Amino acid sequence: MTVPAARLFDLLSLRDVTLRNRIVVSPMCQYSADEGRATDWHLVHWGQMLQSGAGMFCIEATAVTPEGRITPGCLGLWDGATERALGERLARARRQAPAMPVALQLAHAGRKGSSARPWEGGALIPAEAGGWTPLAPSAVAYADDEAAPLALDAAGLVRLVAAFADAARRGVAIGIDALELHMAHGYLLHEFLSPLANRRDDAYGGSFDHRIRFPLAVFDAVRAAWPANRPLGVRVSATDWVDGGWTLEETIDLARRLKAGGADWIDVSSGGVSPKQKIVLGPGYQVPFAREVRRATGMTTMAVGLITEPRQADEIINAGDADMVALARALLWDPRWPWHAAAALGGTVNGPQPYWRGLPREAATVFGDARVRQR
Ligand SMILES: Cc1cc2nc3c(=O)[nH]c(=O)nc-3n(C[C@H](O)[C@H](O)[C@H](O)COP(=O)(O)O)c2cc1C
Repeated sequence: MTVPAARLFDLLSLRDVTLRNRIVVSPMCQYSADEGRATDWHLVHWGQMLQSGAGMFCIEATAVTPEGRITPGCLGLWDGATERALGERLARARRQAPAMPVALQLAHAGRKGSSARPWEGGALIPAEAGGWTPLAPSAVAYADDEAAPLALDAAGLVRLVAAFADAARRGVAIGIDALELHMAHGYLLHEFLSPLANRRDDAYGGSFDHRIRFPLAVFDAVRAAWPANRPLGVRVSATDWVDGGWTLEETIDLARRLKAGGADWIDVSSGGVSPKQKIVLGPGYQVPFAREVRRATGMTTMAVGLITEPRQADEIINAGDADMVALARALLWDPRWPWHAAAALGGTVNGPQPYWRGLPREAATVFGDARVRQR
């Protein structure tokens, strides 16, 4: 039996942005911002991820308004101060690393806002303890023992559409190459999609067409504010893993509409809207959703979730289950994962010049024809 050639290191073009390979650094909250402003932790972390050899780095969920942060430590992009903090540190990190497209995930936490950082327990922080009142489609709490969020009124919806578009424009100003709109994991846009969180009886709740209306309005506003030559993707939860919740069929229908509206990729995750979810975990557990969405829509698709091994990642691309793989925890564990995948599969990555001498003999070609000499 012949082993198919590795595809993980194939180029991929998304509008004017070219990925050197199909590995994407999945967005990962760092909970290390100061009033939404990036800090030197971001400089260090981004520097590491930009040296990873991935095809694209996606910056963490970035809130479009202060109350849209998940925790007080979440990153924001809503005013001049947050724009400057993010832009300056990103520019510094990029100057010290090989070129790599940088995406940013635009987000609003919805009813999951005002949470403690995970290492502080992650619970809802009441307003009197320094938190804030989260906003949501409906005044329905995430968990039964939690206070209900405030349901957004018509003016609130208009304000949030504008906030997403403003953040996209700020992203242009600081050189972000691609945007990903966060419609997954039980945050605001997913809350509109899911009947578990959306109990509205106006034009934004009830039927499928009503539930997708606000997320699509945000998508259209961001697409209009974002340059035509730069890609825009969307992360979705393919299922709520709860009876009576959002389904794969609805995800496929939504994906078709996003594609028609100019979405460049669909990033297929799952869950997050309800503590009652029953997730069946295992290696690549969300890949079958990516496969279904890709087959049904023909969209450029990203698979994510427990993709940890180079051959596993390559098989996902080779089998046509997805066009890109996003890795999160594996890249925290091993920030050089793409180098090691290149060594295992015969690919190449851009290595930083000061590290060129570090390649072991069996991986001598991982940086392509990089050569060093000394006297
Ligand atoms: C520390 C950490 C922070 C995360 N932050 C985000 C985020 O900002 N946005 C998002 O969509 N997913 C976030 N996730 C989920 C990951 O992007 C990814 O979907 C999930 O961890 C499954 O992939 P993995 O098995 O490769 O870790 C986060 C995960 C981790 C571990």
